[in-house]
Amino acid sequence: MSTGPLIVLVGPMGSGKSTVGALLAERLGVAYRDTDADIVAAEGREVSDIFVEDGEPRFRELERAAVRAAVAEHTGVLALGGGAVLDDGTRALLTGLPVVYLSMDVEEAVRRVGLGAARPLLAINPRRQWRELMEARRHLYTEVARVVVATDERTPEEVAEAVLDALELKDE
Ligand code: S3P
Repeated sequence: MSTGPLIVLVGPMGSGKSTVGALLAERLGVAYRDTDADIVAAEGREVSDIFVEDGEPRFRELERAAVRAAVAEHTGVLALGGGAVLDDGTRALLTGLPVVYLSMDVEEAVRRVGLGAARPLLAINPRRQWRELMEARRHLYTEVARVVVATDERTPEEVAEAVLDALELKDE
């Protein structure tokens, strides 16, 4: 029987889930997995193309299936897409798992992603869009998380360290 993932990272886009996740996997000597990448591989299309061609509800269904498979199979570090927590079924799959919410304040978000064309969700009015996005999501990140780790003004290495501390995964 599988033991489930050692760490599951949730949080908004740009909070460092991929970078911190890869660092954590390296530190712990386990594999890193990312459900966005699983969806892209299964569909043979980019996430942005799935959104445009099939719509967000279909993407959330694919994401729920990807999270279901990953939590059943994967025993390393797992990162979810920023909007995964919006789906009731996906949140239910996270019950009892070591979920870490990587949080970030608005200024940090604007610094990291607001000006990037690759993040269309924040392209027009980054501060306002960020606030709206977080108003809709903050309570959901908190609901699924066992611990919250603030990433503001921290390097990915420092965040990884804080995650290991918070989950008590450090070697003596
Ligand atoms: C999304 C975040 C993205 C990706 C998709 C939707 C969101 O993942 O799943 O573009 O709704 O916040 P990252 O958080 O890895 O950028």
